[in-house]
Amino acid sequence: MNRIYLDNAATTPMDRAVIDAMLPMMESSFGNPSSIHTHGREVRNTIERARKSIAGLLNTSPAEIFFTSGGTEADNTAIVRSIEDFGITHAITSRLEHHAVLHTLEYMAKKGKIKLSYVELDDKGHIDLTHLEVLLRDNPKTLVSLMHGNNEIGNLLDLNVVGQLCEDYGAIFHSDTVQTMAHYRHDLQQLKIDFLVGAAHKFHGPKGIGFLYINAKSKITPFIHGGSQERNMRGGTENVYGIVGLAKALEIAYSGMDEHRKHVEALKARMIHRLSTELDGIEFNGDSANLERSLYTVLNVSFPPSEEADMFLFNLDINKISASGGSACTSGSDIGSHVLTALNVSPERPSVRFSFSKYNTVEEIDYVVDKLVSILKVTA
Ligand SMILES: Cc1ncc(COP(=O)(O)O)c(C=O)c1O
Repeated sequence: MNRIYLDNAATTPMDRAVIDAMLPMMESSFGNPSSIHTHGREVRNTIERARKSIAGLLNTSPAEIFFTSGGTEADNTAIVRSIEDFGITHAITSRLEHHAVLHTLEYMAKKGKIKLSYVELDDKGHIDLTHLEVLLRDNPKTLVSLMHGNNEIGNLLDLNVVGQLCEDYGAIFHSDTVQTMAHYRHDLQQLKIDFLVGAAHKFHGPKGIGFLYINAKSKITPFIHGGSQERNMRGGTENVYGIVGLAKALEIAYSGMDEHRKHVEALKARMIHRLSTELDGIEFNGDSANLERSLYTVLNVSFPPSEEADMFLFNLDINKISASGGSACTSGSDIGSHVLTALNVSPERPSVRFSFSKYNTVEEIDYVVDKLVSILKVTA
């Protein structure tokens, strides 16, 4: 068995067709898109074609799509610029957000720009919508930043419901959609949202390229100052091959989405079933085992405490399995998962996040479960 990659929420292998689409941009179409000669204009046209394709898939206008260096920059731009440009004095988020959101909001709070509220969670880690409404009702000029799909436990948020609440209370709504982009359809004519984001490396595209959707009604000023690129919204020569790869990866994802989803969902269901029936003391973190309310690409498993708990991921690695995880933070330490800590998962229990892609197979899942069974039998 070749090495098995089950860490697709961290990053995905690139699709061969994406690499093929990018190669000409490195080999021959090397002009600077800001140059007005033919070399430059050709590349500018390529960028605009990519933007149009992405906008078309998301059912929005190309004028609302801005390329960034990835998810982190897109999140930072939306949060920092909307707080400063719209006179936001209060932000609502959850303790389960990615650090691209949490650390940015905490920084803005530390600078005295906003008061930061954390919405309460239910015992599975879902947002308490009643509490969200209380926080919205009691505070004017609010930014809500809540992720669509959690990168560690997979919990999904209903963007329609939160978008409607934000509209009802006049709040700005940003969602970190890095883990759902290209895995679920986002229809921006239907969604009531100001900002959402994508990162190509999470859907078989290249690293270091992403985008920010900015609703035309929520215009912000630049986060990165410089040249007039991205219609004066982000200075810096464009990552042309990245942009081409991003658009190609999104096109491939949209054209095969239903089929890939069915395949990956079946892998996840098989793993849940085999782990629950063949191993004692298994738990699933958050709502990870709920196929309706969690990402089909993520399964976060909590294993019984054992002496070898610290060595668990290493043990998987030497058995040719790449997965990630760890455990909740022990008291007084911030090493470990802030998400599992917020969910009160015991730090004694090793947790592993298995995350799947269209390239994984039933044979791989069976091999991984067999290995887990033998590792745990040995350590028991
Ligand atoms: C939910 C979420 N948000 C943001 C990011 C950051 O994206 P990028 O690596 O493109 O900066 C990630 C990537 O790990 C993520 O999973």
